Amino acid sequence: MFYIGVDLGTSSVKLILVDEAGSVLNSVTEEYPLSFPRPGWSEQDPGDWYEKSIKGLKELLKDADKTKVRGLSFGGQMHGLVVLDDEDNVIRPAILWNDGRTEKECDYLNNTIGREKISEYTANIAFAGFTAPKLLWMKENEPENFKKIKKIMLPKDYLAYRLTGVHCTDYSDASGMLLLDVKNKCWSSQMCDICGIDMSMLPKLYESYEAVGELKDDIKETIGFDASQKVIVAAGAGDNAAAAIGTGTIADGDCNISLGTSGTVFISSDRFSVDSNNALHSFAHATGRYHLMGCMLSAASCNKWWMEDIVGTSDFAGEQKGIDTLGENHVYFLPYLMGERSPHNDPKARGCFLGLTMDSTRTDMTQAVLEGVTFALRDSLEVAKSLGIDVKRTKVCGGGAKSPLWKKMLANILGISVDVLAVEEGPSMGGAICAMVACGEYEDVTAACEKIVKVVETVEPDEDLKKKYNDRYESFKQMYPALKGVFAL
Ligand code: XUL
Repeated sequence: MFYIGVDLGTSSVKLILVDEAGSVLNSVTEEYPLSFPRPGWSEQDPGDWYEKSIKGLKELLKDADKTKVRGLSFGGQMHGLVVLDDEDNVIRPAILWNDGRTEKECDYLNNTIGREKISEYTANIAFAGFTAPKLLWMKENEPENFKKIKKIMLPKDYLAYRLTGVHCTDYSDASGMLLLDVKNKCWSSQMCDICGIDMSMLPKLYESYEAVGELKDDIKETIGFDASQKVIVAAGAGDNAAAAIGTGTIADGDCNISLGTSGTVFISSDRFSVDSNNALHSFAHATGRYHLMGCMLSAASCNKWWMEDIVGTSDFAGEQKGIDTLGENHVYFLPYLMGERSPHNDPKARGCFLGLTMDSTRTDMTQAVLEGVTFALRDSLEVAKSLGIDVKRTKVCGGGAKSPLWKKMLANILGISVDVLAVEEGPSMGGAICAMVACGEYEDVTAACEKIVKVVETVEPDEDLKKKYNDRYESFKQMYPALKGVFAL
């Protein structure tokens, strides 16, 4: 039987068709635009997600035996605010996870209402990209639009709504709205009151691997399914929880690092827990349990920006070939091109190169970009360490995981083993696994991962290199605090 995994990302939607053993039979990527209407703002048109997903589905299934397709599900970019009016029209472009416009609203939530209260209601504090501060921003800055709101949803849930007609979400993605009581897995009435919304505007909550409905008849016709065929749609997960499923990061203490547009350190946990400083997010996992997560806003996107927009090449691997002085680079890069979430929570932070000299080369700068992102991931890992979580190994996924050099940096800068997977699909595979469980192909997510996810190689840290990078990290650690005041000017 066949299943479809949809990764609704920030720059594109990626769709995969897999069989029950997780073998990828076909994959299609459709890009859509991202707009930055003002510095630090980030928006997208939900209509593009839908159009491109339908186009992608048609292409994905063009030559496949469609009668074998049983189910579909998603991993989706998290936190984006999608609002619909009483006729189901999108009221305004979606405000995305990496949008930094809500500094004032976050200040109100964390300092006027108070971080203790917000953390008690939701298990988290306000970060600029989270959904609740965006509702407050709309209320203040676009009151006419705010009054029109009838339905609130997240990006992948908009897609599910268009495909099934069901207004739904899952606990992992809902965790990032700052409207969910994560511990008790229900909407927080206190947060709804604070944001001035009615709880009826929020979607129905599901576990990621639960069926929410079926493809609507008109969608089946558009894609080319027979009218009598049932295609189950499962709730799916936020892209990081979906990636964790896709990489088999499901047992207590398991870690996955995603080097995508964002960079995340995801630690699976059997029990609910909260980082007392709220630097790491405390969210529900797509397994039905929980996780802690640090999220940096610009990870592989720093390298993409540096390569494509500044250096002017698309040959990323070619540019990395000349890098042969690991642990010895005098150039540093702070990767805060969209401000930073974990652990600094500072929308005003900015990217910069430090330590340049007359003999610095383009190669040193390319190396610094990759290292800077990896040092910033270590910042989140250090927070986990301070909570007594001893991460010894990690899986890795996302565009950056294709680079052997970057995996070596990860192993040596983080000082842990990096397990490389046979299939590094991450969120789309996680989506497909959610669909498999919803269709009864596997009893639960764990059984599916045991069968599907395979480690093929492990990159081990080298003691000398680890030491060199430890020294460099000590320097890196001092740079943001030294510049924080400058960023705020
Ligand atoms: C996680 C986060 C990002 C987005 C990227 O909190 O904001 O990883 O989900 O798609």
